Amino acid sequence: MANVIVIGTQWGDEGKGKITDLLSRSADVVVRYQGGINAGHTVVVNEQTFKLHLIPSGILYPQTECIIGSGTVVDPQILLEELEQLHRLGVSTDNLFIAETAHVTMPYHRLIDKASETQRAEHKIGTTGRGIGPTYADKSERVGIRILDLMDKDVLQKRLRWAVEQKNIVLEKMYDLPPLDPQEVITCYTEYAELLKPYVVDASLKIDEAIRKRLNILFEGAQGTLLDLDHGTYPYVTSSNPIAGGACIGAGVGPTTIDRIIGVSKAYTTRVGEGPFPTELNDCTGELLCDRGAEFGTTTGRRRRCGWFDGVIGRYAVRINGLDCLAITKLDVLDELDEINVCVAYELDGQEIRDFPSNARVFAKCRPIYKSLPGWKASTQDCKSLTELPLAAQSYLKFLEDLLEIPIAIVSIGASRGQTIIVEDPIHGPKRGLLNV
Ligand code: GDP
Ligand code: IMO
Ligand code: MG
Repeated sequence: MANVIVIGTQWGDEGKGKITDLLSRSADVVVRYQGGINAGHTVVVNEQTFKLHLIPSGILYPQTECIIGSGTVVDPQILLEELEQLHRLGVSTDNLFIAETAHVTMPYHRLIDKASETQRAEHKIGTTGRGIGPTYADKSERVGIRILDLMDKDVLQKRLRWAVEQKNIVLEKMYDLPPLDPQEVITCYTEYAELLKPYVVDASLKIDEAIRKRLNILFEGAQGTLLDLDHGTYPYVTSSNPIAGGACIGAGVGPTTIDRIIGVSKAYTTRVGEGPFPTELNDCTGELLCDRGAEFGTTTGRRRRCGWFDGVIGRYAVRINGLDCLAITKLDVLDELDEINVCVAYELDGQEIRDFPSNARVFAKCRPIYKSLPGWKASTQDCKSLTELPLAAQSYLKFLEDLLEIPIAIVSIGASRGQTIIVEDPIHGPKRGLLNV
């Protein structure tokens, strides 16, 4: 039995979907613990591509139970579309469960998200426009509507009518938008409630049953460490806690339940939306990474900003998440490069700094200090073991391991399941020992 958290160590899109799918093979339960349909996880199985936003990536294994946890925000319309997509592709969702305490994204959340971004003009965050921030804001304000409210017709009528009336004031007065018809929203969400009813459970209790049976539980994070609301590059972050600490809150389990934490890192870095990005490449190398890596957002189709691997944020991710080991993805994207840079420290006002600055304004002023490593100029996509990789690729991985002081357990060299090198058992193999660092 092992309970494992899988998280992104950068600004999202690290390939968490692929790694979660891979690890789900030996998981009995997969729990998505935060975020909403802002996430986009692509999983490729037998040349079939699955794009998941809210449903855990473990859904492709029929025996695995998948739980959309309490810390998530659920947009019923998109969730139902996602269910339909899976059914069309022959995937059963009988083992899917939704936490009754998760909050629900409403049409006014989406409208407010988009309108507030427009109003912020040059200060915009570059959100996915999916209503994520406003849904979490209502949760914090204690005026949100939860899945359990959705399931109670009378409560839904009352609370939703009040909520729409309140939000209409905001829509009209603040954003000059037409009001929503409360009855239309109520009718629509009452229909969604009927369709989602069979999936709704007390998720924390269900997870506890799995813990008591000593089953293997995988906690799947969305977004990434640097998008964390408390510990990311605020305000250019998402509105939830993707970091490992968020898993316990979002799933409703105690910290003592967790056995291992696996970080997923791209072999380079990408970012979607606004905000500082020291190793960003606004040149032909950046374009090459974008083209070879097909770096376009799964959710919004936006071109992802690309840059070199950043060891400073890598070390920060190891620290803030208490990572045990790493999965490095998309190594193959670097196959054609003559030389590869890795950021080992920052230069700030003439000083070298090695620790990620928590002040985002300071972070924005940091310039990368690079160590240049030779490229391998050969395809890695069919390699089956670490020793089959070109020597320069092995050296690159060793360099990252030494820089971040953490073992690399998995190396991904392509989107499909087979294009994966298991260096060490990610769940039971060597882990970062605090005494060794
Ligand atoms: P997530 O949000 O962290 O799950 O990542 P995304 O799915 O948004 O983005 C990762 C993209 O890279 C997806 O299209 C994956 O199919 C793809 N991918 C994952 N691992 C690899 C890899 O090792 N090599 C290549 N070339 N593509 C990969
Ligand atoms: P996955 O799970 C990459 C980014 C947005 C924006 C910021 C806030 O696929 O890795 P939001 O809509 O959450 O309020 O937007 O966060 N963002 C992501 N970037 N991958 C994601 O998810 C993201 N989810 C949100 O681009 O900069
Ligand atoms: Mg993604």
